[in-house]
Amino acid sequence: MKLLAGAFALALLPALALAQEKPSWAFPVTDKEQPEVKTSTAPRSAPGSTKQYTRAQADDLFNIPDWFPEMYPKLPKVIANGNAPNVRACGSCHLPIGTGHDESAYVAGLPVAYFTRQMADFKSGARKGSGSMLTIAQNITDAEIREAADYFASLKPTKWVRVVETDTVPKTYVGGGNKRLVHPAGGTEPIGNRIITVPEDEEIVLYRDPRKGFVSFVPKGSLAKGAELVAGVAGKTVNCTICHGPDLKGIADIPPIAGRTATYTVRQLFMMKSGERAGPSSALMKQVVANLSVDDMMNIAAYTASLDP
Ligand code: HEC
Ligand code: HEC
Repeated sequence: MKLLAGAFALALLPALALAQEKPSWAFPVTDKEQPEVKTSTAPRSAPGSTKQYTRAQADDLFNIPDWFPEMYPKLPKVIANGNAPNVRACGSCHLPIGTGHDESAYVAGLPVAYFTRQMADFKSGARKGSGSMLTIAQNITDAEIREAADYFASLKPTKWVRVVETDTVPKTYVGGGNKRLVHPAGGTEPIGNRIITVPEDEEIVLYRDPRKGFVSFVPKGSLAKGAELVAGVAGKTVNCTICHGPDLKGIADIPPIAGRTATYTVRQLFMMKSGERAGPSSALMKQVVANLSVDDMMNIAAYTASLDP
């Protein structure tokens, strides 16, 4: 009995070690205790926009704010309104310009075949990582997927993340919708081995106004280490350009990884290693991530986020 229990514990060890390693900074979850912040209920306007939205309107997941219609093509229904009650409007989290927020995903310019495959993987459960995407994938129609995939593929990727190497970062908390924000009480703390991403302008981001993105603070030296890993380090990983293209902007249905949000990249590498992202096409990534530590993933993500998308 003792022997059996011992063998069982041994078998569990690698899984446990990996589970413990999960970097909470890359998988933000709304903090139970929230600092007190005043949220205005008045309509907000934005310079250059004829529109006005209250915060509640901006957060309507079935009728997204349309701040700057000239910035993007006419919004298909699935992007602007989704299909209530289970298919939330894609544009609310991914924004009409497809750049998304750090806790969601940058989808502008994704190849249609890749995009469609991800929806199938979310639906089958082969790809985990976001409860809302699983519900959407289980309820969306093929026609809606096609419409969303065509829309986002048609968008020209724009620079969305500014990467800054530093030893100290502002103190932050994770607000509603898993969004990391600068703590209203102020203060700084050592960055440690983390990437800390906050809005360039909190009001703009919270009102889902697509004019400004994010700043990612990364540890000093991480860009050089990331560049080295991306070029391929014998015994550790494979040169990413072989499959993702010379400038990491994707080839055919292999997705672009340049200029995407940093914690998103860490989440994907981590989940591909842990098996939480195991769609048929991600098999090609298995050998790439097999020997990567969380610090390696952090360095890679710092570097790829710093590139032009
Ligand atoms: C409530 C927020 C939310 C909404 C609304 C939403 N998504 Fe997502 N989406 C996410 C999150 C979060 C992720 C990333 C999960 C992760 O980190 O692995 C994601 C990832 C994706 C990806 C994978 C991107 C990649 O590079 O592999 C696709 C494709 C996608 N979403 C499509 C859609 C479509 C289509 C819609 C609208 C029908 C939609 N999403 C609406 C939150 C959302
Ligand atoms: C042998 C080919 C191959 C190599 C080499 C490779 N990749 Fe990939 N990668 C893929 C494929 C294929 C996918 C899409 C998987 C899917 O469809 O689920 C992918 C997906 C990804 C994703 C997820 C993108 C998203 O939008 O969710 C990331 C991040 C990534 N790769 C990073 C890297 C990095 C970093 C390297 C180098 C260290 C690398 N890849 C090397 C084939 C490769």
